[in-house]
Amino acid sequence: MEIIEDIGRMRARAEELMVRRVDRGFVPTMGALHEGHLSLARRSGGENAVTIMSVFVNPAQFMPGEDYDSYPRTWKKDLELAEGIGVDIVFHPTAEQMYPPRRQTTVQVHELAKRLCGISRGLGHFIGVATVVAKLFNIVAPTRAYFGQKDAQQALVIQRMALDLNFPVKIVVCPIIRADDGLALSSRNRNIPAGLRPRALALREGLSLGREMIRNRNYDAQSVFNAICEHILRDDAIELDYLHLVSPETLEDVERIDDLVLIAGAIKIGGVRLIDNILVGPDGPWDD
Ligand code: PAF
Repeated sequence: MEIIEDIGRMRARAEELMVRRVDRGFVPTMGALHEGHLSLARRSGGENAVTIMSVFVNPAQFMPGEDYDSYPRTWKKDLELAEGIGVDIVFHPTAEQMYPPRRQTTVQVHELAKRLCGISRGLGHFIGVATVVAKLFNIVAPTRAYFGQKDAQQALVIQRMALDLNFPVKIVVCPIIRADDGLALSSRNRNIPAGLRPRALALREGLSLGREMIRNRNYDAQSVFNAICEHILRDDAIELDYLHLVSPETLEDVERIDDLVLIAGAIKIGGVRLIDNILVGPDGPWDD
């Protein structure tokens, strides 16, 4: 496995692959790899001749007071896992290279980024995400790029950004990978205090409860919302950041569930912010 730390070298390598018409799969990550990331790399490996993974904890997407400093960093382990899953190139730039002094340019996806995490984390979060992903696309020039459905809003923002800015890349969104108990895998899970770990499931349980209500033909978004909130807020260790039933295309709130809806939520537990979501409509799906 090749490790490239220099932007110029990464671009030269990408150009060489492009000229030879080699399909390039790209898995952007912030490291602290888990089975979710590995599932993206596996999918990329099945669809492309070469898989490039970036490992870069992007300071620009953390807002003041967020967990940039405590975000888990497990570089050595990441390399082992990436190599084990068949990643060909790991791109690992420094923040100084990615963000040179006197920079003035950002990328903003206006409407989609305003909702859900864009409200609770602030508009700057998705400006940070869209900007770094646009930069990475320019450097890595992938044929396909892989994102997880756990970050459903991020995947939509990136899809929109790639379309709007004419990046010649296919965005592939892959299913949420869960721990055995159902908790959506996240690098942040390792920061949940051990005693609180089982209680972190409240959001997942709430979302499943909402799905059950829809299965039982309760199509009123407000009552599904109320029941999920009530379930989550029963545990006083949990702070509900947001919960929304939205259109999976526009992220606008829905009143009636007469088509697929994205039920998306964020909680804080033991100082750790976790997100999860479920896609469901009057005809299911009833499991995931
Ligand atoms: O999902 C992530 O890990 C990050 O938001 C991403 C896409 C790598 C951009 O920094």
